[in-house]
Amino acid sequence: MADVSDTPPSKEGTPVLPPKETPDLPPKETPDLPQDAGKSDEKAEGGSEAASDPSMYRYIKNDLFTSEIFKVEIRNLPKFIGFNDLKKFLSKHGLNPHKIKLFGKQTFAFVTFKNEEERDKAMKMVHGVQWKGQVLSVRLAKPKADPILRKRRQDEGEGAGGQPPSKRAEGKEEEEEEALSVQIANVVTPLWNVPYEEQLKRKEQQVVGVLQTLAKEIGSTNKAMLPWLFAQKGKYNRMCCPLEAIRPSPTLTEYRNKCEFLISMGANGEDKTIGFRLGKYKGGSCAVVGPADTSHVSAEAKRVVSQFQKFIRTTAYSMYSPETYEGHWKQLTVRTTRTKQAMAVAFFNPQKLEEEEITALKSSMRDYFTDGEGKDSGVTSLYFVREGQRTSPNLEDLPCELVSGESSIHEELLGLKFRISPHSFFQVNTGAAEVLYSAVGEWAQLDQDSTVLDVCCGTGTIGISLAKRVKKVIGIEMCQEAVEDAKVNAKLNGLSNVEFHCGKAEDVFPNILNALVSPNITAIVDPPRAGLHSKVVLAIRRAEHLKRLVYVACNAKAAMNNFIDLCRAPSNRVHGAPFRPVRAMAVDLFPQTMHVEMLLLLERVDYTSQQQPATAPRKKRHLSRRKQALSLTLCTLYQYSEQPGNIHFNSLCEADSS
Ligand SMILES: C[S@@+](CC[C@H](N)C(=O)[O-])C[C@H]1O[C@@H](n2cnc3c(N)ncnc32)[C@H](O)[C@@H]1O
Repeated sequence: MADVSDTPPSKEGTPVLPPKETPDLPPKETPDLPQDAGKSDEKAEGGSEAASDPSMYRYIKNDLFTSEIFKVEIRNLPKFIGFNDLKKFLSKHGLNPHKIKLFGKQTFAFVTFKNEEERDKAMKMVHGVQWKGQVLSVRLAKPKADPILRKRRQDEGEGAGGQPPSKRAEGKEEEEEEALSVQIANVVTPLWNVPYEEQLKRKEQQVVGVLQTLAKEIGSTNKAMLPWLFAQKGKYNRMCCPLEAIRPSPTLTEYRNKCEFLISMGANGEDKTIGFRLGKYKGGSCAVVGPADTSHVSAEAKRVVSQFQKFIRTTAYSMYSPETYEGHWKQLTVRTTRTKQAMAVAFFNPQKLEEEEITALKSSMRDYFTDGEGKDSGVTSLYFVREGQRTSPNLEDLPCELVSGESSIHEELLGLKFRISPHSFFQVNTGAAEVLYSAVGEWAQLDQDSTVLDVCCGTGTIGISLAKRVKKVIGIEMCQEAVEDAKVNAKLNGLSNVEFHCGKAEDVFPNILNALVSPNITAIVDPPRAGLHSKVVLAIRRAEHLKRLVYVACNAKAAMNNFIDLCRAPSNRVHGAPFRPVRAMAVDLFPQTMHVEMLLLLERVDYTSQQQPATAPRKKRHLSRRKQALSLTLCTLYQYSEQPGNIHFNSLCEADSS
């Protein structure tokens, strides 16, 4: 589904994401157990009914990118391997898979690649290779069936006659349907009828759960922290650190500055409707409902949608159908600012149209929004994207053609100015982002000697908002356009102590960190939903001069592995003293939905010596073997400094041996 806004969208900084469920981009595969777990691929994923119906594979015959074409099945895998094990194994053989799908405890996996060359290389490199005593075999695998067609077929089989565009109240076939405005509110703003205080409580509770889990995880991955952890859990309701009161969003409605709408058949039967999808593509529904009654979309964005809908209805071009892959109009992304600017990005599949026809369409679009009926829509920046031209998985490869107006929009935040280009990430709730960034600034404990590393910096918002308080800001970001924005933003705000580097954090961050000699470094990381690449976490762990880390997580559960790795005991893989969580807080950027941002401050454990206390070995002789083992573990790992909340390590050993 496109950004229906029940997600903290585009955390990846890819505002032009096309709908996830369209067959040209099959749903992201995770190591989770899929429904069809256990079935081998004799007939292709999706079951036998799919295999007998060639229409279910129509999507791979288009010119679009889909890694489903470059898919293999690896068999005879060792038992109990996980997603990461397989990923590492493939990477060790120089392979870079696009997707990996494992099936619980089964010994086979489906792996897709970005092109034929990589797929063939995988077949050559992996076939016959021995891994943990198992000789692997690799063979070509058929693609997955189009989920919507599969669902339709299933429904037909069940006699349901296909899924109706809108949902009926469960078990009450005869009763009237719920109003579409209620149905769509339930999808995009599922908490719309829950009082805000209650929403905040639920979100806070989510974060409590995360911190309690983290406490358990730290306990099992860093035994030396047990005494400290024991005290923390006792004080803070089984959490690893105190949780401060959740900070609410300053605005509860119309707070979104960016929405991604789909263009499809309206659930009310109206053709070429721009709105949010009512159900999931794989649930068998493509119908959309306009945003007019949706509480989190701004009036400005609604105006743009309404004008754009009028415009596309005047054109001869139909809406794009993800079922038949025919048609043209696909998606509209709208961004608005407090400065009353608006960017509209229209996604259009050119199919086999001639270049002249596209040029004529773009010019009629320009006329409509500059001199025609759309003149008062507020659009200051109008873009056109040829969606069907995507031949690579990189969304940034989709060129945005400026049709009229400015190439970017400008937002004001914390009294500063920010340029935003179409591909650049910007927090979707500007008011709440101010609350978030202010908290980051408070927690980072900065002074004029500080160097701030702003990792995954987008347009530079966090670093730029802190720059006047510190000696230097270094931002790292992989989206080229966002980095260009960030550089311009530094100038716009008269700053000369900031620099921005373009690249994946996992590639550039370790070198930047190693080159820094300043003893006063604070890192602020604000990664996409999946969290930081483990290389970044390992680099942070190694850089012992980096003492403080503020982690901004839009999906705290997904960031859990990062938190654990930051806190786990040193090992062959993880070098450098661990961090420990010091304080946490939730900030609500997404009212009416269950999503929330979490802020976690972590500080490096300060231990001065790893030597065993001189008295310990002698005393150990009198201990039981179990106690000896525990005592040794504790003694040889760290000696905590005597800070509030720490138990001094010597006294722990003595207590244990008495
Ligand atoms: C959640 S946004 C945060 C942006 C910024 N801190 C802000 O508040 O506006 C995450 C950013 O990380 C960038 N990103 C995603 N993966 C990355 C990677 N591997 N290395 C560097 N940046 C990455 C995205 O382009 C996006 O701009």
